[in-house]
Amino acid sequence: MKAGLHLILTLAAFAVAQPSRRHRHVARRQAADIPTVTVVDVVTDVAAVVYVNGNGQPFSTSYDGQAASLIFPDPTSVAPSSAVAPTFTSSRTSPHPPPPPASSSSSFNTPPQATSSLAAPATPSSSPSSSSTPPTTGVGASGYALSYSPYNTDNSCKSQAQINIDFAHISGYSMIRIYGTDCNQTATVGSAAAAYNMKLFAGVYDVTQVETEIQQIITAANGNFDHIDTVAIGNEGVNDGTYSVGQVVSAINTARGLLKSAGYKGKVVTVDTFVAMIANPELCQASDYAAANCHAFFDGGVTAEQAGDFVLAQAQRVSHACGGKDTMITETGWPWQGETNGKAIPSPENQAVAVASIKKAFYHNIVLFTAFNDYWKQNNAGTFGAEQYWGLLGNAPS
Ligand SMILES: *[C@@H]1O[C@H](CO)[C@@H](O)[C@H](O)[C@H]1NC(C)=O
Repeated sequence: MKAGLHLILTLAAFAVAQPSRRHRHVARRQAADIPTVTVVDVVTDVAAVVYVNGNGQPFSTSYDGQAASLIFPDPTSVAPSSAVAPTFTSSRTSPHPPPPPASSSSSFNTPPQATSSLAAPATPSSSPSSSSTPPTTGVGASGYALSYSPYNTDNSCKSQAQINIDFAHISGYSMIRIYGTDCNQTATVGSAAAAYNMKLFAGVYDVTQVETEIQQIITAANGNFDHIDTVAIGNEGVNDGTYSVGQVVSAINTARGLLKSAGYKGKVVTVDTFVAMIANPELCQASDYAAANCHAFFDGGVTAEQAGDFVLAQAQRVSHACGGKDTMITETGWPWQGETNGKAIPSPENQAVAVASIKKAFYHNIVLFTAFNDYWKQNNAGTFGAEQYWGLLGNAPS
């Protein structure tokens, strides 16, 4: 048996300021305070590697270095995760033998691709969460989620009728992610999502306006929170330098209190880049699960084919940094047009390849970014001229 594959991923940092517009999905990705993060990934001759979370539940499995799907525990069968150390481990020591590979045995025979197993986190992980952390719960709806923004090219708000037209072209997803409460979108997008039997991943965009935005979410729900899976407080605000960690943590707690009083029983999180989350685990400790955006495209060392393995490896790092918490990747995708970023080349073909690779690595707990091209956004150097071109379904039909 051969010793295996060594892989070093270097996360190139770039720090280009981006003018603030409604929200900046793809600005200064993954830069944060860490200029360089190195992951040394060692895959030996172990046939299968199983990662488990703090509860000993399988988190993901990789075969011969090839990522298989993430497996999260059934929420009803999970004990509270209080102060259990993360137990990422290989099958040599895992008490949970890996499940057999689905149908084909080819994954044992195909050569290892790129990355996937996480030998050791490059950054020192924080101590596991303490008493204030809510119990680990199952994350998200089953299947894939999709992000959606209800803006016209001129930045005006889409009407309910327009949103309905857009949603008639969305299928195969179980949840829709939005980012804020402007445009009455919690109600309009929420009602379109509900009409197609999809959950809503709602958002508070401006952390400093958390009370106001939460009130808008409560008003939009009108007493029925059944279709809201998660309320996220902020998007990449710590990575952007817009908010302090303390500000975000306090806003999460405020939001949770207000929502609970209104009868909401779903999850409350903040979303930040995987780099910011790993560097500031307080963010996920205050969240009901770890919610991180992760775009392989911005790494510069990752090809479209490697996107799924890269994102899976980062999800594992996030979960580890967060004390073994369940983790959802709340944005990932690939642009179909824009400038090349090292090994990352935007093209329609590469977008398809990257998304296929991501879907191969994850069967749920992932939000694909994004439904339609976002012509309302401004392009700039920091986003490789690709900011408007991440639409998976082309131009919005409305
Ligand atoms: C928000 O959208 C909902 C759903 O379409 C609608 O019923 C409601 O009247 C809207 N509220 C405002 C203030 O526009």
